Amino acid sequence: MGKRTALITGITGQDGSYLAEHLLAQGYRVVGMTRRTSTEVHERIEHLVDRIEIVSGDLLDQSSMTTLIGDVEPDEVYNLAAQSFVPTSWNQPVLTGEFTALGVTRVLEAIRHVSRKIRFYQASSSEMFGKVQETPQREQTPFYPRSPYGVAKVYGHWITVNYRESYDIFAVSGILFNHESERRGKEFVTRKISDGVARIKLGLSNELRLGNLDARRDWGFAGDYVRAMWLMLQHDEPDDYVIATGRTHTVREFCRLAFAVAGLDYERYVVEDARFMRPAEVDLLIGDASKAKAVLGWEPQTGFEELVRTMVEADLKRLRSFAGV
Ligand code: NAP
Ligand code: GDD
Repeated sequence: MGKRTALITGITGQDGSYLAEHLLAQGYRVVGMTRRTSTEVHERIEHLVDRIEIVSGDLLDQSSMTTLIGDVEPDEVYNLAAQSFVPTSWNQPVLTGEFTALGVTRVLEAIRHVSRKIRFYQASSSEMFGKVQETPQREQTPFYPRSPYGVAKVYGHWITVNYRESYDIFAVSGILFNHESERRGKEFVTRKISDGVARIKLGLSNELRLGNLDARRDWGFAGDYVRAMWLMLQHDEPDDYVIATGRTHTVREFCRLAFAVAGLDYERYVVEDARFMRPAEVDLLIGDASKAKAVLGWEPQTGFEELVRTMVEADLKRLRSFAGV
């Protein structure tokens, strides 16, 4: 079999960068779609630019998607692009729907027109479970999204299932629980905390303002989760899978551990701030990934403590070299 080609939308994001690394290691030709901006700063994939191809396209534009998929001729498409920050989805609900919901249909339409043999991965989310109807959450758990983002992801999930059933396309929906890394955007709570700890430790800040400290999440490592995306597209049958660690922790616990890595007591620095509370919260997420383990042989390899420590140490190192401290 010749070299396989993978197209990644959202290659500049956290998951896009880890997935590109994983696919390169498997011998793929990797093509990443980016949208046009006036400056070309793609810091998460800077180390890969000599080994991947970058093409221009936008999930909002049907013709760009169809032309691009026709030109690239991918064997596999990973649709990771989305407006992915939950609070922004209340401020920009229509745009979130355009990117995160209808964007999925545009990619699927392009595949339907170009070649139904292309395999498709949709980046679905545990946010779809929202006000959870069952604990732990699994593939059969009913959805009850709590944000415009979650609602858009439910649409993306079902349109993926629908194209699989309507057109016999190998389309899968990976229902991934929160996954983090040192490449996580700084607006998400884990990276906000690891960056905040490093700033306080190095004397660049004296407090960290957060919202709901009692929210519980099932946090894993992004590098483990992109492996699951790839495994889903290598299986004989297209299907949907929950990907999670099966453990849950509060934001408060994350803070306690992260500050402890730097030898600090979080209670002295963390300030609860109403500005970071959400109109509707997802209180508890904990996933049951036993189907992925049984069918795909997937299991997470990085534990919670290791994840927290790695993130804090990476921010300390980055800020030290940046600030010359
Ligand atoms: P991320 O870091 O926010 O990356 C999002 C990517 O989407 C960026 O590359 C962004 O490009 C791109 N994008 C946004 N709008 C676009 C548009 N209109 N056209 C083309 N590209 C566009 O997100 P992530 O954490 O890597 O997550 C990847 C996917 O998994 C997302 O769909 C997210 O919703 C989903 N997900 C994430 C998690 C998690 O815990 N990380 C869990 C479940 C599901 P720019 O660089 O140009 O902004
Ligand atoms: N961002 C943020 N900032 N969250 C805070 C803060 C804060 O200052 N303080 C408390 N939190 C709480 C939020 O209220 C939420 O309950 C939890 O921390 C996690 O928030 P985020 O890290 O922003 O992630 P998320 O769970 O809303 O969404 C992420 O995970 C989803 C999968 O469940 C994103 O990556 C989504 O794209 C993804 O689908």
